[in-house]
Amino acid sequence: MYSAILVVHSVLRWVVLVLAVVVTARAFMGLRGGRPFEARDAKLGGAFLGAVHAQVVLGLVLHLALSPITSAAMASMGAAMRDKTLRFWSVEHLAMGLIVAVLVTVARVRSKRAPDDAQKHQRALVGYGFALLVMLAMIPWPFRKVIGRSVLPTPMVSAH
Ligand code: HEM
Repeated sequence: MYSAILVVHSVLRWVVLVLAVVVTARAFMGLRGGRPFEARDAKLGGAFLGAVHAQVVLGLVLHLALSPITSAAMASMGAAMRDKTLRFWSVEHLAMGLIVAVLVTVARVRSKRAPDDAQKHQRALVGYGFALLVMLAMIPWPFRKVIGRSVLPTPMVSAH
């Protein structure tokens, strides 16, 4: 169960990232080109929000129930804070994931409620753009020291 959820969480990262780039780029170009806020913008924003929420739910299941790393951290939070790996997974990754969810949710609601198309694009651009930056910072990319992981799901990589 742990491996399956970790694989889905890892693969879903790519779906979330691609959608983040698409919605941010569309908002930027829409604002610059004075293009109306189209039904497609709203649909893609909804898909992005749904993917982020699914990612957070899977992350919470890993964090609270399945991950041996976060269980070890929660067993002794004081010691975990002094360990870079345990601190990253039990605090930093969790906090940034929740911030992403808030940014995307608020951006979508504010964009929907904006009085005109330019402001719809602008609110989407700011919220989705910041969410993208936070995600780029929170992902354990292979080049990150200590916490770095493969761009493929860990259970698949370690199976070889
Ligand atoms: C919102 C965007 C998020 C992204 C893009 C993301 C991305 C990732 C990635 C790439 C991994 C490594 C997967 C692997 O090793 O193959 C991972 C692992 C993990 N994530 Fe997230 N995550 C997000 C949100 C969250 C949240 C909100 C939580 C907690 C509530 C969370 C908890 C975890 C845990 C516990 C692990 C696994 C640690 C272990 O190896 O046992 N994630 N995440």
